[in-house]
Amino acid sequence: MRIIEVKDYQQMSNRAAEFIIEKVVQNPSIKLGLATGGTPIGTYKSLIEDHKMNGTSYQKVTTFNLDEYMGLSGDNKNSYRYFMNNQLFNYIDMNKAKTNIPSGIAADFQEECNRYEDLIAKHGGIDLQILGIGGNGHIGFNEPGTSFGSKTHIVKLAPSTIQANARFFNRIDEVPTKAITMGIATIMKSKEILLLVSGEKKKEALFRLLNGEINESFPASVLKNHPCVTIIADKAAIADLKIHYSAKVPM
Ligand code: PGA
Repeated sequence: MRIIEVKDYQQMSNRAAEFIIEKVVQNPSIKLGLATGGTPIGTYKSLIEDHKMNGTSYQKVTTFNLDEYMGLSGDNKNSYRYFMNNQLFNYIDMNKAKTNIPSGIAADFQEECNRYEDLIAKHGGIDLQILGIGGNGHIGFNEPGTSFGSKTHIVKLAPSTIQANARFFNRIDEVPTKAITMGIATIMKSKEILLLVSGEKKKEALFRLLNGEINESFPASVLKNHPCVTIIADKAAIADLKIHYSAKVPM
């Protein structure tokens, strides 16, 4: 893992967008793994600005999102399909038919998990996966205790995740309690991973990732077993916590 330290959320977003754009230009048919949540919104905004200014094209790109809430259809404004359309896909030249997100309203959710896992495999896997991290160390919706061997599966969200995501809903009891998520093994099969970490609320999680042990009680720790992970973290997330990780690359 290498860590790139940036000043703030804006710089993290710009740096992450540059990173992604470089890969898309190198490989226009890239398979991108995408994330939702507060963290990547600025990155997606930078990608849109770049698309408008420089014409970077996404026509041949295929995307796979990490997760979707169970029970929400794509036109529900809290679904991750709606989020992706409105934060990114509608504003770049993405072919929507090449954008993939698990269905939140599948008739058979287990079958949907299998379909999604197979679909990723059929496309030859993900080239670059963008990740955020939960305060509890989750990646995707893989909550603490999830097996490192897990494939795309159904999860019951942790109370802390429901609490953290309530800010996007009118009321906390509107937050779905279950979701479909790529598994940890699914994520780990990605050829490259870009983890974005911003803000003081994430500093304990980042510290634990960099300094703690690799085990299933802290899902993100598995990333230390991956050969190609870049972390872009801002000063608030790194804060005054001493990072012992040797490959720190200051910007
Ligand atoms: P956030 O969520 O970007 O909204 O902080 C990250 C996550 O829970 O993975």
